[in-house]
Amino acid sequence: MSGLLEGKRLLITGIITDQSIAFSVAKLAQEQGATVVLTGFGRLSLVERIAKRLPREAPVIELDVTNPEHLAGLADKVREHVDGLDGVLHSIGFAPASCLGGGFLDAPWEDVATALHVSTFSYKSLAVACLPLMESGGSIVGLDFDATKAWPVYDWMGVAKAGLESANRYLARDLGPRGIRVNLVAAGPLRTMAAKSIPGFAVFEDSWAKTAPLGWDLNDQVAAAKACCALLSDWFPATTGEIVHVDGGYHAVGSS
Ligand SMILES: NC(=O)c1ccc[n+]([C@@H]2O[C@H](COP(=O)([O-])OP(=O)(O)OC[C@H]3O[C@@H](n4cnc5c(N)ncnc54)[C@H](O)[C@@H]3O)[C@@H](O)[C@H]2O)c1
Repeated sequence: MSGLLEGKRLLITGIITDQSIAFSVAKLAQEQGATVVLTGFGRLSLVERIAKRLPREAPVIELDVTNPEHLAGLADKVREHVDGLDGVLHSIGFAPASCLGGGFLDAPWEDVATALHVSTFSYKSLAVACLPLMESGGSIVGLDFDATKAWPVYDWMGVAKAGLESANRYLARDLGPRGIRVNLVAAGPLRTMAAKSIPGFAVFEDSWAKTAPLGWDLNDQVAAAKACCALLSDWFPATTGEIVHVDGGYHAVGSS
């Protein structure tokens, strides 16, 4: 039986450790038949070392998603490895320390601007940078954390995610006529490097597993990765601007 992503050429951003959600997506995508090209930010030799743990080693292109030169050169660099793209994963988030952990009222604009640039605007930047490679349509998937509520400690990252959810709808509007679907996976809390850098992240850990109807495993990136792969496949041909929750059902229930 051929895999869900047989013949698909995917660009996957956001691997920094083998706990990264993007690592699980890349692994699963390769297992399902995809050819994967990675981008890495900053510590490229580390990303290359992690890439060796994939079923098949994948090339790594340097991409700081706030760097206009990196974005302008991305399509040509990807073309050194594949002749086009069928899918792109945006798995990127960052906020300076002042933006997380309870100092919502004090975070300065410069720090908030960084959070929004890296975590929100970059969804559009990455999509536009990849457009020359997606002339026959395709699928763009991003990683979200439910932004319909104000959470403890998540602060300006929550605002950045609310913007991401909105950008997802606008990208779907503008890229739909080109045959490109744009969707988010809203994952529950997972113990990745980004999550561990949020002071007080443990507040999510305690409540999520208790409240989610299906329960929740903080160390299992595979559930979110499966949803990403499904959205990158041909099995959601008429779905765009959507947010698929992969959170054990937490978002659907109230808690006392
Ligand atoms: N871990 C969670 O609980 C959780 C839950 C829901 C959504 N998410 C989202 O999943 C995505 C991936 O995060 P993760 O949890 O796998 O953590 P992670 O730390 O493994 O990945 C975050 C990635 O963002 C990259 N990055 C940061 N600044 C960048 C820049 N300027 N240019 C390019 N890349 C940059 C980092 O290099 C890293 O690879 C993020 O959007 C995050 O908000 C995480």
